[in-house]
Amino acid sequence: MGRMLGRVLVIVPTYNERENLPLITRRLREAVPEAHLLIADDDSPDGTGAIADELAAGDDHVHVLHRPAKQGLGAAYIAGFRWGLEEGFGVLVEIDADGSHQPEELPKLLDALAKGADLAIGSRWVPGGKVVNWPASREFLSRGANIYTRLVLGLPVRDATAGFRAYRASALEKINLDDVESRGYCFQVDLTLRTAIGGMRVREVPITFVERTVGASKMSRGIVIEALWRVTVWGVTGLPARLRRRRARRR
Ligand code: GDD
Ligand code: MN
Repeated sequence: MGRMLGRVLVIVPTYNERENLPLITRRLREAVPEAHLLIADDDSPDGTGAIADELAAGDDHVHVLHRPAKQGLGAAYIAGFRWGLEEGFGVLVEIDADGSHQPEELPKLLDALAKGADLAIGSRWVPGGKVVNWPASREFLSRGANIYTRLVLGLPVRDATAGFRAYRASALEKINLDDVESRGYCFQVDLTLRTAIGGMRVREVPITFVERTVGASKMSRGIVIEALWRVTVWGVTGLPARLRRRRARRR
C-alpha cells in the first residue's frame, strides 16, 4: 500500500542560470503539472532573479525566494525547505536548474516515496544510473568522493552527493535544519547522513545525469575542501557510530 504524499514543491536553486531557468521551468511544469516550483535565487548578477519573477507572474504554480547574496547551495535549500514546510507541502524536491537532472525522471522519485521511502535519491552510481558528457576528471572526483564518504561514514548509499532527490516533509521535520552548517555541495552528504541516523528509509533510484550545455558549473576548490574536511570530521567524531548502533538495533 502506498503512503499519501501530499502536495509537491520542487526547489530550484539558481546562481547565474538566466538561459537555463525558463527551460527547466517549462520541462518541470510539463513533467509533473500538479507540482509547485520555488526558485531560490542568490541575487544572480546575470539577472536570473528578474526572469524568475516573470515566470512567477505568469504561473500560479511558480514562486520565487530572493536571497541577498551568494551563500551556497546548502543555505539556499535550507531556506527553500523552511518556506515549503511552512506552506504545508508534503514532499520537497531538489533539482539543479541547468538540465543535468531531467524533470521527466521526477515521477520515478515520487514513486519511490509513495512506496514508503522517506528520501529518494536520483543516483548516478547504482546499476542503471548514468552520466552523459562529463569529463573524466569530474567523474573521478564524484566517484572518489562517494567511495571516501562510504568508507569514512559507513553510509550504505552509492551516490551521497547527488543533487536530484525527494524528501517527505516528515523526514525534514525530524532533522534539525538549524544544526546544519554545510554550505556547499557537502550539504547533500550531510542530509543523507542525518536521514539515515534518524532511522528513515533512503532509496536510490537510477537516473541519467546530463552535463549542462549552457552556463558554467559553480563547483570550486572551496566546495571540495569543505566537503573533504566535514566528512572527515563527521567520521572521527562518531556520527557513523550512531549510524551503526541504529542499524544494529534494527536487526
Ligand atoms: N541559490 C544558489 N546559491 N544556487 C546555487 C549556488 C548558490 O550558492 N551554487 C550553485 N547553485 C545552483 C546552480 O545554479 C545550479 O542550478 C545548481 O545549484 C547546481 O550547480 P552546478 O554548479 O551546476 O553543480 P554541478 O553540476 O557542478 O554539480 C552537481 O553535482 C554535484 C555532485 O556531483 C550538482 O547536482 C550538485 O548538487 C551535486 O552535489
Ligand atoms: Mn550542473
